[in-house]
This record gives sequence, structure tokens and C-alpha cells, in this order.
Amino acid sequence: MRCHILGMLRGQRRHLSFHTPGHKRAGMDITELSYSDDLSDPTGVIARAQEDAARILGAARSFFLTDGSTCGVYAMLFALRRRGCVRICVPTYAHKSVFHACEALGLTPVLLPQETRAGIPCQPTEQAIAEGMGGADALLLTSPDYYGFFPPLAAAQALCRAQGKPLAVDGAHGSHLHFTSLYAGRFADLWVDGVHKSLPALTQGAVVSANAAWADALAEGAEFFRTSSPSYPILASVEYAVKYPRNVRVERAAAWAKRETGALENDDWTKLVVPFGAYADGAQAALERCGVYPEFNDGNYLMFYLSPATTAGAVKKLVRLLRRLPRAAVQDARPVTGMPRGKVVTVPPEEAAGMVCARACGMVPPCIPLIAAGEVVTREKAERLARARHTFGLTDGRIAVYREES
Ligand SMILES: Cc1ncc(COP(=O)(O)O)c(C=O)c1O
Repeated sequence: MRCHILGMLRGQRRHLSFHTPGHKRAGMDITELSYSDDLSDPTGVIARAQEDAARILGAARSFFLTDGSTCGVYAMLFALRRRGCVRICVPTYAHKSVFHACEALGLTPVLLPQETRAGIPCQPTEQAIAEGMGGADALLLTSPDYYGFFPPLAAAQALCRAQGKPLAVDGAHGSHLHFTSLYAGRFADLWVDGVHKSLPALTQGAVVSANAAWADALAEGAEFFRTSSPSYPILASVEYAVKYPRNVRVERAAAWAKRETGALENDDWTKLVVPFGAYADGAQAALERCGVYPEFNDGNYLMFYLSPATTAGAVKKLVRLLRRLPRAAVQDARPVTGMPRGKVVTVPPEEAAGMVCARACGMVPPCIPLIAAGEVVTREKAERLARARHTFGLTDGRIAVYREES
């Protein structure tokens, strides 16, 4: 299928650049010129590209984003707020952008309880969603999550319809699924596709979409949070990625790799999640010495992100290396809820064990809470945070906890 934005960029005549960006190299990285259309009010190539994307994704309207799924999450929550939704049912282990957007927009998150199994958060159950929705105006689910698991989307859709409440889906990890019945757009009123994560797009490329009932509110949300200087290379790559064909060969190679490596039995072929337990750091270091980089190491699992652009040869090489590495049992520390009492102070991880966490914190990626607010900090989790290369929710490496006055 023809890519309108890429076609426009490739067809440019050479010109002298007296406009932004300041590198003055012209080429693909241009700004809004008379021929390049305008993301905030598209009538040309961008309009045609977004219309094609909406058709492919089954949406009434789709909006390209150059600010990641984070911007899409903000735009969706803005749209919900505009239409009077204030209490939003969200998974406890939602991405940090969900909690940040709720805080910024004055929304109250109604947390859906999630269990952990084999060291990773499970998706909320149908029952937990039904209970949570009793006190909420809207539902936001993550589908699939970073570990390749799906929430009960059909049941959630039926419940939301029965109650006349909207369903939004954070599909930051699901844009490759639009060919399938698992795709978020088949269930949600509003959804974001993190195109840059599982399709061949440049980093930060994403699309947020809505059905006819929510398209106008979402258009306003997208306009509110998108940059006014979008990157044309990212826009072009988003269109290219949405139109990228399915790669059945690598999907088969992924299924084989899962079996060969004892990876988690998830429902998403792009997420190869291999258990290493206490050897996770050593396995990551060994792989990196061979020039192989996983997406993340959560202290238990190494996660390898595949996409339709991954080659079967690369998958074979990865499997060969993974077979040689030692493994240990994964640690499953179930969260324990505590009483949030006393003053909020920050303490180094080694002092936080036994105290109640006051601010969700975790590793980057996956950017979901390792320790949720209100959870008792365990020594094991505090150590994992202290060892992590990159974290969120900490202040200068310190965990926010409640300390009772003596
Ligand atoms: C579930 C989920 N939602 C949203 C985001 C934000 O996506 P982006 O980094 O594209 O802004 C992420 C990023 O990791 C994520 O994992």
C-alpha cells in the first residue's frame, strides 16, 4: 500500500532552508511547509495517511503521535474527562503514564487488584473488573502487557456496554495485532497503539484511535497533548509501520523459540520472556558480551522483543545462546498491603524493608510498579530496585515510605 508521507518526503525538490529545524540540512527532517501538510490541521498527505490508518485499524478516526503512547494515554484520559468521567478503573500495575495523566487531569484511579504469578503481575480478572466498575465511570486496561498477557477484553467490553461506560485500552504493546481477533480496537472505544514498540517505526511513533462516539473528544485530547513540532521522519515511519505486512515466518520462528527456551506461555508472539531467576543479571551480561541485547531484565526474567522486522536467523542465534546459559528458579514475592500511616519520608532501599510504600516505584522498562503505593516493601524488592540500572518513582535512589511518628 502506498505511503503518503514517505512519498511526499522522497519527492521533495532541493531547497534552501530558512525554516526550522536549525540544522538546515533539509532532507527528511522538515517542518510544516506549503507542501508537507500539518498534523494539527491535516488536509493533505497526513490526512490521507491517517484515514488509511483508521481504515486498517478499524477506527472512526486515528491520530498519529510523535510523542509515544504516553501522549495517547494522556489524550484518551483527557477525552474521558471531557465527557464527565472522573473515576477511572485501572490496573494496579498500569504504566506510569496512566497514573501521571490521572494526577495531571484530576482523575481518581480506582485500582483493580492484580495477583502476581511466577514473579509477574497477572492481568485483572473479569470478577475484579466487575467489582471495580461498580465505583467507576470508565475502564482503562492494558492489552497486551509487556509480558505478552491479555486482559478479558470481550467480558470487559460487554460489561462496559451494559453499564453505558467507555472502555479505553493502552495498547502500547499491541499494534502488531491489528490483523487478529486479539486486537484492542475490536473491543475498545478509545485505544492507543505503540507502533514503535512492535512494528517497524521510529522510536516515539504511535497512533491513538477512537470509534465514532469518541472521535471528537479524542481529537481534542490529541490536540491538547501532542507537540506542535512533530517529526516528519517519525510520522512517515508510523504510516509505514501501520501498513507493514504480517510476517508469518518470524511468527513461526517465535513459537519455536518459546518452546526451545522454556519461555513463558503467553499469547503474544512478539514477547519472548525467558526465566532466569537469580541468574538474570549474569545472563544479560553474557548475552551483551555476544552483542545481544534484551528489552529488559526485571531481576527474574529477560524479555526479548520481536517484531515483523525480526529475522528468523536472529531468532535462531538467540535460541542458540540462550540454551547455553544457566537458570535458577524465579522468585515470586506476593505483594502485601500495609496501612499508610505517618509521615511520608524517603529512605535508601536497604532501610525501606518492612515499611509501607508511599509512591509507586519500579524499573525502566517495564515502567510498571514493582512496589505499588500502599504495599509493604520487601527486602527482595528493595534489593532489586537498588540493583536496577534505571528506575522511576525514586528520589535520588530513595524510596518514599510512611514513617510513623514515635
Ligand atoms: C503499557 C505501556 N503503556 C504506555 C507506555 C508508554 O509508551 P511510550 O514509551 O511510547 O510513551 C509504555 C512504555 O513502555 C508501556 O509499557
